[in-house]
Amino acid sequence: MDAVTCTAPVNIAVIKYWGKRDEALILPINSSLSATLSQEQLCAKTTVAVSGQFTRDRMWLNGKEESLENPRYQNVLREIRRRARKRKIAGEGEEKGTSLSDALSWHVHICSVNNFPTAAGLASSAAGFSCLVYSLAKLFKIEGDISEIARQGSGSACRSLYGGFVSWNMGEKDDGTDSVAEQLVTENHWPELRILILVVSDQKKHIGSSAGMGVSVKTSELLRYRAEHIVPRRMKEIETAIQNKDFQTFAKITMQDSNQLHASCLDTYPPIIYLNDTSKQIMHLVHKYNDFCGQIKVAYTFDAGPNACLYLLEEEVAGVLAMVNHCFPPIEQNGDQHIRGLQVEEL
Ligand code: DP6
Repeated sequence: MDAVTCTAPVNIAVIKYWGKRDEALILPINSSLSATLSQEQLCAKTTVAVSGQFTRDRMWLNGKEESLENPRYQNVLREIRRRARKRKIAGEGEEKGTSLSDALSWHVHICSVNNFPTAAGLASSAAGFSCLVYSLAKLFKIEGDISEIARQGSGSACRSLYGGFVSWNMGEKDDGTDSVAEQLVTENHWPELRILILVVSDQKKHIGSSAGMGVSVKTSELLRYRAEHIVPRRMKEIETAIQNKDFQTFAKITMQDSNQLHASCLDTYPPIIYLNDTSKQIMHLVHKYNDFCGQIKVAYTFDAGPNACLYLLEEEVAGVLAMVNHCFPPIEQNGDQHIRGLQVEEL
């Protein structure tokens, strides 16, 4: 038997991925960009093992057995084995430990856990698939870019393979070989940058992101316009802002892009609404705070749910936390600090 354990963190997009041009290969209609959180915080931990004793591929997620029938798991396992076979044919991967020949003829067992509260409703599939693919690649001794494989598990997962700021280039090819993630800057580039996560609701979303973006692609003209005309420009602008550590530009584009994602959701027919009243109050509060400061000090961004992610600089954390505490007075719940429906995670 041979086993590998890895961890992979969550990423928070500032230019959002919303919409696929190929649902099977998970190819997006626009490029996107995110920051990867550091390993110790919100991450998935996965152990993968191969053994001649295993009778079939199996997987456990947070202690519960999951079916591997899902085409996303099948695609990932097939692609990993295809790449490993290629290496074996080239006479590689036999150096130490279990040989590739053995690993390829044996079954895998996968065991994955998240260290973050499911209540946080954060993109667990990004950390989960990224971790799964990274661990399998180590086990099967695969080298080179694996973001193309992670993307086939969950689009946003390809961005969690790298630290710092990471772009996922949409690519043009039909086979998806150029739709890969690329690190823009490392985690050391902007050490003053912080993310606060305000957990507004732990309710399951009424429509998941995959289903939601499918309806948006079919019905929203705004989404089509955004993908063709707005995202390409924004990607360039925000990349330059990140490289120059220009918080004003970075923060403004981040908020505008989040708002456009949710405008596209509202433009979808029937409309999709992920933000709730508390999310809107947070947006309003952030703009009031920035107005009061005379410049942008904090930016919000929302994924397919009501929970807010705030980007800010370290020097502003105390002020923003004080504002949040003032507007959403804290209540104690199970020893955690909940703020009138908000739970604050400082990262
Ligand atoms: C709103 O990566 O979860 O978080 O590719 O269908 O698995 P699938 O979708 P997923 O979508 C994430 C969408 C988003 C924006 C983003 O992270 O860019």
